[in-house]
Amino acid sequence: MNILVTGGAGYIASHTLIELLAAGHQPIVADNFSNSDSAVVGRVEKVAGVNIPCYEIDVTDYDALDGLMAEGNIDGIIHFAGYKAVGESVEKPLMYYRNNLGATLTVLECMKNHGVKKIIFSSSATVYGEHNQVPFVENMPTSCTNPYGWTKLMSEQIIQDAVASDPELSAVILRYFNPVGAHSSGMIGENPKGIPNNLMPYIQQVAIGARDKLTVFGDDYETIDGTGVRDYIHVSDLAKGHVAALDYSAEHRGYEVFNLGTGRGTSVLELVKTFASVNGVDVTCSIGPRRAGDIAECYADVSKANSILGWKAALGVEDMCRDAWRWEQNKSTM
Ligand code: UFG
Repeated sequence: MNILVTGGAGYIASHTLIELLAAGHQPIVADNFSNSDSAVVGRVEKVAGVNIPCYEIDVTDYDALDGLMAEGNIDGIIHFAGYKAVGESVEKPLMYYRNNLGATLTVLECMKNHGVKKIIFSSSATVYGEHNQVPFVENMPTSCTNPYGWTKLMSEQIIQDAVASDPELSAVILRYFNPVGAHSSGMIGENPKGIPNNLMPYIQQVAIGARDKLTVFGDDYETIDGTGVRDYIHVSDLAKGHVAALDYSAEHRGYEVFNLGTGRGTSVLELVKTFASVNGVDVTCSIGPRRAGDIAECYADVSKANSILGWKAALGVEDMCRDAWRWEQNKSTM
């Protein structure tokens, strides 16, 4: 299938390009490179040994997206494009709503205009909010604690309503848990600008000496060792989940939501220890206060994706740490 990948140069999207190509699909990238690097697409082409059509457009721009979709036979869209920093969304909520909801609306409008019937949407485990018990199951009540999360939940609702109005549409919502790691080639990975918000990139930067120490945000949660527990998933496993979702949408119409995680929780200190031991590096840490908005535990019930998509994460935390470190050591040479 010809698959338009919005935000295609981003972290999860770039790994998905590789898995789409490996499965015989043809991705087409649309990205404004506002928070990504256009060179990433060239590196994916190198890893995969094929060319990827790539368009510098803002997917909130109806005319630009409509013009691109008028050119080719797009069979489906994987919609990644969006802002993704929780803290920034609290400071600039209107920017987040305009950009992230605008992108979702424009994608759906252009799909309608060009008769494209398949959409896979990047959502987040953040939509499970603060009040559910782990493991999180797709049919639990949803709520959010920050504008970023609301843009994901509102986009889910918008897509659900669009599907209700058109029985030919197929929409698959993928709720990601905590994507980490990098492609085994060492050619692509996460490259956050400035101080990383997320744990794994922070650990990587401490290990390589770019930062002095990791501050562990709280050690008084009711968890195995008091530190926060998350469901880390290797980004390549996550990327394969998108291919499984696409295969599913080729056979099914309607709206479905799937968790993509491993189903296993790992604490902050467990992740730090694993990273240090598998890579033979030091990761200095100190305990600090809790971070506002964090929950104690977040991990997925993955039985729905296992049974319906036939997808299961294959890689473990050690693989994630190894690949993250390889990328951290390579990335300055890219
Ligand atoms: N943590 C630290 N120190 C740091 C960074 C993080 O101790 O410097 C801890 C956090 O307190 C948390 C764990 O590491 O316990 C993971 O934190 P991340 O910021 O890496 O990930 P979150 O689970 O907070 O958030 C991620 C994504 C969000 C998404 C959410 C969905 O960043 O976009 O998962 O559950 F909404």
